[in-house]
Amino acid sequence: MAKLMIETFPEEKGVNRRKFLKCTGIAAIGGLIGKTLPNAAFASYQHKFDTAVSDDLFWEEIQQHFVIDKDIVYMNIGTTGSMPINVLDSYSEYNYLAAYHPRTFEKELNAGFGLPEQRAALASQFGCNKDEIVLSRNTTDGLDAVIYGMPWFNADEILITHHEHIASLSPLNVIQDRYGVKLTEVEIPSADATQKQEFVQAFAEKITNNTKAILFSHIPYKTGTRLPAKELCTLARENNLVSIVDGAHCAGMIDLDFHDMGCDFYATAGHKWQCGPGSTGLLYLRNQGDNLPPIWNQNSSLYTLISQGKNRGEYDIAASLQYRGQLNIPAQLALLDACNFWEKIGRSKIESYVCALSSYLKKRLNEKFGGQGTFFSADVPELTTGLTTFNPFEDINNASSITALANRLSNQAGYQIRYTNFYLHSSDPRQVYSTRISTHLFHNKNQIDGLVDAMYDICQSIQT
Ligand SMILES: Cc1ncc(COP(=O)(O)O)c(C=O)c1O
Repeated sequence: MAKLMIETFPEEKGVNRRKFLKCTGIAAIGGLIGKTLPNAAFASYQHKFDTAVSDDLFWEEIQQHFVIDKDIVYMNIGTTGSMPINVLDSYSEYNYLAAYHPRTFEKELNAGFGLPEQRAALASQFGCNKDEIVLSRNTTDGLDAVIYGMPWFNADEILITHHEHIASLSPLNVIQDRYGVKLTEVEIPSADATQKQEFVQAFAEKITNNTKAILFSHIPYKTGTRLPAKELCTLARENNLVSIVDGAHCAGMIDLDFHDMGCDFYATAGHKWQCGPGSTGLLYLRNQGDNLPPIWNQNSSLYTLISQGKNRGEYDIAASLQYRGQLNIPAQLALLDACNFWEKIGRSKIESYVCALSSYLKKRLNEKFGGQGTFFSADVPELTTGLTTFNPFEDINNASSITALANRLSNQAGYQIRYTNFYLHSSDPRQVYSTRISTHLFHNKNQIDGLVDAMYDICQSIQT
C-alpha cells in the first residue's frame, strides 16, 4: 500500500494529530510483544487468571495505544469499543485517500472487488475459509442477512434463549408474523451455572419435531455469562438443526475459531470488543462440509453474477454477500487493521487478560461488599467473559437504585458503566436490574480497585 503523506490535518476535539503520529505504529509495540509475555502461560484454553493479570509491563504498553480520555474510566465496551491509535490513524489515511483519489483509492489500498485479500486475512484469524467470512456493517446486519435469507415455513420452530437482544428478536418476530414461524424460549442459567452441560440440557429438552434452528447469544448482553457455543452447535448438528449464533460481544474478546465451533452462522461486531470503526462487523457462513443450510442472497447485489443457479457450497457465498452497493471501504480496511493488531498481541492472551480482570473484579466486589449483593455472571473459567454483572443492593428488582448507582459512578466518580434489566427466570413477574461492567485490554487492576471503592462509597448514600 502506498504510504500517504498528509501535510495538514484538522485538529479535532483538542486531539493533536502530530502527537498521535509520534506514538503511533504497531512497529513500536512489535518489539515488546512476545518478549515480555510468556506465551506458554496462555497456551491452553483455560484462563490462567493470575498469570494473565500479573504481566503489568506488557499490558501498560498496550494501554498506551488507546486515546480514551484519561479523566474517565470507560467500562462500557459492551456498547461500543474505542479504536487504538494505529487504527484511528490508518482509518484517517484511508478516508483521506478516498477523498484525494476517489476513482483509484480502492486499487491503491489493495481493496479488490469483494475484498478477497481482506477476507482471506480475516479467515485465517477466525478459523474459517475465505468464502465463509463477510465484512458486514455490524451484528444486526449479519443476523438480518441470515434470518431473512433462510427459507421459513408455517409452523417451523426456532429455539432461542430468554436473554436475546432486539437485534435478533426483531427479524425473528418479522418471520414469526410473516411466515408463522414459532419462537420457543429456552430458559438458561446465568450466575448459578457451574457447567456447560446445563445449557445444552436446557436446549435439548425443548427440541420437537418442528424445530428447525437454534439461535443463541454466545454471550448474552444482559448477564455476561458465556454460553458453550461448541457444545450447543454439536447438539444442533446431532439433531439436524441449523445453528445461528449472535456473537456481538465475542470478536476481540474471545479467541474465535468458527470451524472448531461448528456453527452454521455467526454474526459479530467489529466496533465493540474488536475496537474497529463504527458500523463494522463480521459474518461467518459455513460453506464447507455436509448439510449446508439453504440461504438466499438477502441484501446483495451479486445474486445473478455469483449465486443464481448454483447449489450451496458451489460458489463463494461470502463474496456474493460482501458486495451490496457502495460500501465504507475505509472503515472495513481499518477493521482489518484492528484485527491485525489483536493478532500481534495474541487473541488468546487478550481473552485470558480480559476474563482475568473480570474474575479479579468479582473477587474485589465480594471482599468489599462482604459477600453481600448478587452476581448474574458466572465466575467459572469456562463461562466467564469480560462482562461482569452485579447488583449490590438487597432489592434486585429496584430500578432506581441501580440507575442512581450507574449515573453517579459516571457523573461523580468518572467510571462509565451501564446497567441492564431482564427476567432472571422466564416466569418471574418482575425484572431484575444489574450493573454491567466491561473489562478490556486497556484496563488494569488499579482501575478495578478504584471502581469497587467508588461503587461501595456511592452505595452507602443511596436509599433503598
Ligand atoms: C447480544 C447482542 N446482539 C446484537 C447486538 C447489536 O450489535 P450491533 O450494534 O453490532 O448490531 C448487541 C448490541 O449491544 C448485543 O448486545
